[in-house]
Amino acid sequence: MIFAANFKMNHTRASTRTYMIELAKQMKYKKAEDRVIVFPPATALDSYDGDFAVGAQDAYTATSGAYTGEIGVEQLKEFGINSILVGHSERREILRETQEVVATKFQFFKTQGFEIIYCIGEPLEVREQGHDAVMEYLLAQFDGVDIEYDNSIIAYEPIWAIGSGRSANADEISSTHSAIKAAINRPLLYGGSVKPDNIKEIIGIKDVDGVLVGGASLKVNSFMELVRCAC
Ligand code: PGA
Repeated sequence: MIFAANFKMNHTRASTRTYMIELAKQMKYKKAEDRVIVFPPATALDSYDGDFAVGAQDAYTATSGAYTGEIGVEQLKEFGINSILVGHSERREILRETQEVVATKFQFFKTQGFEIIYCIGEPLEVREQGHDAVMEYLLAQFDGVDIEYDNSIIAYEPIWAIGSGRSANADEISSTHSAIKAAINRPLLYGGSVKPDNIKEIIGIKDVDGVLVGGASLKVNSFMELVRCAC
């Protein structure tokens, strides 16, 4: 199982360091074969000791250069970071990243050899149209994306389940994951209101290879409840 923590625009550099020190201590409770990846905000990217990886929530498609406000590969490599989230719905919806921008990012970080956690997910109005509409929407989010890239992980995150407290139900996760896997055979995470009281059910679903967690990852003890539940 893969347990990925997406802090979004939460935590400071100081509170992230405190979190990582505690997380490192608690990694003895995770199964050896499980993986933990933490995506702190850019200001808290650093080298941290512990049996977990640190990734970037976003970066620009260049190594370095005249791109005011951005960070690139040079700033990530300083800390040995080579995992990145691409295509998160908040970047698509709020930061207005089009499919073309997302696909360009995927391609760039692929050529850099990064592990890419590629996020897809449908809005509520599409979910309400049923499974076929959902799959058509999700598969269109692979336009321009090299689905064969072997250092990629897919994260299915229904937009209506993110931060809403209402995760998708087991049937929705199961049918969507098995259809995604049939099209693209990569590790597949579920994200959207994953928390201690639903983790067991979610990771028990076939074709769920892990979780991408926002709110419930912000406190180390709550995130560790998820990781430990897999043991
Ligand atoms: P959530 O966010 O766990 O707070 O719903 C998940 C995500 O956006 O990755």
